[in-house]
Amino acid sequence: MAKISVSRLAKMKQEHEKITCITAYDASFAAIFDQAGIQVLLVGDSLGMVLQGHDSTLPVTVEHIAYHTASVASTAEKSLIIADLPFMSYATPEQTYSNAAILMRAGANMVKLEGGNWVADSVKGLVERGIPVCGHLGLTPQSVNVFGGYKVQGRNDQQAEKLLDDALALQTAGVQLLILECVPVALAKRVTDALHIPVIGIGAGAETDGQILVMHDAFGISAGFCPKFSKNFLVETGDIRRAVELYKEQVENKIFPGAEHSFY
Ligand code: KIV
Repeated sequence: MAKISVSRLAKMKQEHEKITCITAYDASFAAIFDQAGIQVLLVGDSLGMVLQGHDSTLPVTVEHIAYHTASVASTAEKSLIIADLPFMSYATPEQTYSNAAILMRAGANMVKLEGGNWVADSVKGLVERGIPVCGHLGLTPQSVNVFGGYKVQGRNDQQAEKLLDDALALQTAGVQLLILECVPVALAKRVTDALHIPVIGIGAGAETDGQILVMHDAFGISAGFCPKFSKNFLVETGDIRRAVELYKEQVENKIFPGAEHSFY
């Protein structure tokens, strides 16, 4: 099978086929996820928490993401690889272009950045320069200090309208995928219905076009806290490969996420 492309993901949305995504940071897990048919691997700045042991993603650098992207790219033959632009690596358009180029050269097929309207110019510039972009709205962990903690976003009408406006602005600027994190199910559905690009949820209910999980949460191995929106797929399977397959099956059949993993 050929490498998953952005047009394949767009077709999956049109055909109501669910997209399964997971974070990956090394060659061994990337190979397992790739062989299981996971469409998208995200080299997320969550690595600052799950690999490096920090209490936020803020200490992560472009060099860290590039290092792990190269590892993932060494074995992921079919899955599309997204690399995260970390905290303050896209504060200006010029900085965004040079950091995105580092990640693409390391093996990424797309870069991800957090934020709405304010990143639209950078998104447009990246796409014009040949770099596909994934947006990230809702609970954007790089802004944890502005939010005052890891909290569900878009709960009131004003926040919900702003999030929808940001999603439309990102789509107009050229993002080809959008991650929506920790928002109420009804808002996630509204955004998913309003956009023609695929919307991937995490803590956003089962109505989005696909799901993403941090791999350590999907295997119940995150140090300390496991978020409400996550599920340990190793419990029922006892085997990593089988756990990944079960995650994919449950996303495809809308069994995961259930109401117990969602916010209302
Ligand atoms: O960094 C990350 O792993 C992410 C996911 C939680 C979507 O952004």
